[in-house]
Amino acid sequence: MSSAIPFGLPVTDELAADVVERLAAVEERLLETARDQDRLLTEASRHLVAAGGKRFRPMLVLLASYFGDPTAPGVVSAAVVVELTHLGSLYHDDVMDEAPMRRGQVSANLRWTNTIAILTGDYLFSRASDLLADLGPEAVRVQARAFSRLVRGQIQETVGPAPDTDPLKHYLQVMADKTGSLIAVSGQFGAMLAGASAHVVDTITSACEKIGVAFQLSDDILDIASESDQSGKTPGTDLREGIRTLPVLHVLASTDPADERLQKLLTSDLTDDEAHAEALGLLRSHPAMDRARADLRQWAADARAELLTLPDVPARAAFEGLCDYVVSRTG
Ligand code: IPE
Ligand code: IPE
Ligand code: MG
Ligand code: MG
Repeated sequence: MSSAIPFGLPVTDELAADVVERLAAVEERLLETARDQDRLLTEASRHLVAAGGKRFRPMLVLLASYFGDPTAPGVVSAAVVVELTHLGSLYHDDVMDEAPMRRGQVSANLRWTNTIAILTGDYLFSRASDLLADLGPEAVRVQARAFSRLVRGQIQETVGPAPDTDPLKHYLQVMADKTGSLIAVSGQFGAMLAGASAHVVDTITSACEKIGVAFQLSDDILDIASESDQSGKTPGTDLREGIRTLPVLHVLASTDPADERLQKLLTSDLTDDEAHAEALGLLRSHPAMDRARADLRQWAADARAELLTLPDVPARAAFEGLCDYVVSRTG
């Protein structure tokens, strides 16, 4: 076992060394790609590339490639493409969420302006498209469709559920679209470009979408439960923006009179610092957090069950490790 591999994955030394080396190549390509003749565009694009991030999506591309020929052309480029797409969406997301902090750094919208952050996100999407062109029309279509879903998820979250729809169902659809889509495509790209069989590609895609939903559930739990030194973001951002994530939906569905105070807060304006602090405090110690963690565990278990139908290569154990990782990061 090697400790060098991210997310503490249970992989052989050989696989770990290979993945770590290829992640370094991804890193180099990311910096190279986030550059323009315009000095500010280069500076703003590199701002979040340099700030780090978990590189979860590139990792999925690389791991999935071991179900075929991992040295096939395009695998590393695809890993760069999914990270650039993700990164572009983060610049835009921080504008939408008025987030002051990202990856432990001041967000681009705060450091510069919303305009600069939006244009930088657009620029990163264009750089991703440029790399995609070399991967062929199927790859272009796969990424375009995931991107459509991501945007649909973001707009659905912004608009909220229609009065006659189940808020929980709406929430899970948002999770799958805004986050599951790109995480699914990460696994799909790795397997597809490595020439894995159609069955393997489909199974990895479907399992990764579930991992993606679990990943966003854990992100939503951490938005409430974590401090910024752990998340690199400002806690309670979803609450402040009035975004009803899973723990909040559980509280709002409760019929226990003891929940009335919190329910009242959660349906009021939480841009007020005092109300926000009270709601965050009550929510942190509420049983709804454990219910949300149980839902998260179920999504991870469903993903793992699908992974177990794949050939038992070392990368499969790594994927299983990712199922554990998404659960364990919420404590
Ligand atoms: C944050 O993604 C946005 C979500 C879709 C949850 P990550 O948690 O992967 O962010 P980085 O890339 O590590 O900063
Ligand atoms: C981010 O969702 C999803 C996308 C960027 C598509 P969030 O708004 O929940 O993510 P964080 O918590 O800001 O990273
Ligand atoms: Mg956000
Ligand atoms: Mg958001």
